[in-house]
Amino acid sequence: METFARPGVGAGARTLDSRWYCSPEVYADEQTRIFGSAWLCVGRAEEIPATGDFFTVTPAGESLIVTRDGDGRVHAFFNVCRHRGTRMCQEATGHFQGSIQCPYHAWTYGLDGGLRAARNMSDVAGFDRADYPLREAAVAQWEGFIFVNLAAEPEPFAQAFAPLIGRFARWNIGGLRTRRSIHYDLRCNWKLVFQNYSECYHCPLVHPQLDKLSPSDSGRNDLLEGAFLGGYSELRTSGSSLTTTGHTARPPLGSVDGADLDRIYYYTIFPSMLLSLHPDYVVVHYVQPTAVDRTAVECAWMFDPKTMESPDFDPTDAVDFWDLTNRQDWHVSELTQRGVASRAYQPGPYSNAEGLLHAFDRHYLHVMGA
Ligand code: FES
Ligand SMILES: [Fe+2]
Repeated sequence: METFARPGVGAGARTLDSRWYCSPEVYADEQTRIFGSAWLCVGRAEEIPATGDFFTVTPAGESLIVTRDGDGRVHAFFNVCRHRGTRMCQEATGHFQGSIQCPYHAWTYGLDGGLRAARNMSDVAGFDRADYPLREAAVAQWEGFIFVNLAAEPEPFAQAFAPLIGRFARWNIGGLRTRRSIHYDLRCNWKLVFQNYSECYHCPLVHPQLDKLSPSDSGRNDLLEGAFLGGYSELRTSGSSLTTTGHTARPPLGSVDGADLDRIYYYTIFPSMLLSLHPDYVVVHYVQPTAVDRTAVECAWMFDPKTMESPDFDPTDAVDFWDLTNRQDWHVSELTQRGVASRAYQPGPYSNAEGLLHAFDRHYLHVMGA
């Protein structure tokens, strides 16, 4: 059983220096040290249910084709033809009819990545199709999410994610389905998104609608150090949820009961996702930096597929609540980006409500070798 606490910060705990949010060199270094070697969440297995279904993603400046082969295995192929390197697939989503064909000279790959056909190559001395499969990134799945890792020798997923595996079984996240998603382009560094998510010190001012449903000082954390951080906040009313009405008509997910009916759990999963567990739905933010001062965030709302079958099912109360909360968060995060870029900015002192931010910073600096 997890134990929850509200540790404060030690004396002298301060925010990060400006360069970590503003320097193009730091951003380039992050692409190698963090996004080139960590397990990155890129979506859900439910997005590619059938053989040949695919979507493309762009972690760390790469383009990957995430698809499912005839044996049901998920692959993440580098979108790079083995002939002259051409990017092959330009669609965001789609379906391959049994193979992936390069538009340049029609080299054709199986859904397992093997090179099946290469026009006019049979008379080239020493050429063997078996030597030219598509290159692929490592793939892992957890709770219905697909993760990729660009490293040549990635840390095994089960080892990297040991603190999380099995931890959220009560919500049956793997069995949920995404009903809505909204894309946001933020004018701020990706770390400000993680840091903003990790405290509710700002909630009474920035999110009056949230503060009404969940006291901003009720946060208690059980993951306090390392790549995964978070805990729960309480709902003021038992059996409610974070919705525009403050009520919910949806039954609890999975085997959620007892104290979990009165809590919202929030976790940051370094460096690509934020996971919010409500009694009756789950929200995930997929976070991807696109420049030192730009971040793409995809927010998705997931529900129990049985509950969604009900004719009066309506996700709007959850979607609208979080869409408003998101926009409020993006606004203050963008304001912070402007401030930390100022010559007047100096690292400021963290409050005792910001222990997770200090932990995030420590982990980040450790990974950056600083
Ligand atoms: S570059 Fe792909 S077939 Fe020539
Ligand atoms: Fe917020």
